[in-house]
Amino acid sequence: MQHWNKKYPERFNLNAGEDYKKWRDEKLAAYPGNLGALVVELGDMTAITEGEKGKIKELVELANMCVYTAGSADLSMDSLLALGRQLGVSDTDKARRHANSDELTSSGILNNAIPFTTRHVRWHTDATYFGSDKTIQSLFLLCKRPAVEGGSNKVLDHEMMYILLRDKYPDALRVLMEKNCFKYKNPKTGKIAEDLGGKVFWTNSDGYLCHRFSFRKMDMAWSEDGDIQAARAALESLMLDESEYVIEGRLESGLGLVSNNVLHTREKLVDSEDDAQKRLLFRTRFYDRVNP
Ligand SMILES: [Fe+2]
Repeated sequence: MQHWNKKYPERFNLNAGEDYKKWRDEKLAAYPGNLGALVVELGDMTAITEGEKGKIKELVELANMCVYTAGSADLSMDSLLALGRQLGVSDTDKARRHANSDELTSSGILNNAIPFTTRHVRWHTDATYFGSDKTIQSLFLLCKRPAVEGGSNKVLDHEMMYILLRDKYPDALRVLMEKNCFKYKNPKTGKIAEDLGGKVFWTNSDGYLCHRFSFRKMDMAWSEDGDIQAARAALESLMLDESEYVIEGRLESGLGLVSNNVLHTREKLVDSEDDAQKRLLFRTRFYDRVNP
């Protein structure tokens, strides 16, 4: 373990340069550069060993995520929740959403909302959507059936995006961390929720970096202020550049993702015509995060 949170507690403080510089160099040197470097093999995701837990936490510290194998466990929502409990996260957002919205399949639910189709989903973090003032800090996936073709995800640790911004567009980063940049909209009416929204990057009470972003205009109503619009343009340009730190991979049957709500896409896919063979991933989002 690197113990960065203890070693460099000021790494996300824009007014403190020393911790940032040292942490940045160590983080870049240790960042897992490809999918293979993110994989942890588990014997049974519902009963992980101390060694397996240590490997997951190590990768979470390096990249805010890992890819795991389910092992002998059932490929089910219960297994996913059991993995969460073992990693210290259990506060899901399920109660406030559609009952089937944690089964990612082309069901067309929620007026054909894009996760429930075969379309390309652009860069985003899973967010606290309309109706909640709590923020999502982690996102877990487990694949039961992949698509016939396509449906991979690109992922990028949001701490890497923080580094890219801090080195290239520090003024933009300051705006994204200090100003109330956007508000959420009610997806049904499009009406802006005046009391929901806020910063794009911030640190939680334990000193870890949180981030929320989406290209979808339905999700975020950005402020019209000039400095906020400029910061948004800088952030979006870095997303579209797809830095060398972006990792792409497809979750095959029995593979899953543990993440502290990192940035991700879903590439478009071709699905089976047979309902029983359609792509199916279980997803759960938590208001708490996996700490190293
Ligand atoms: Fe997502």
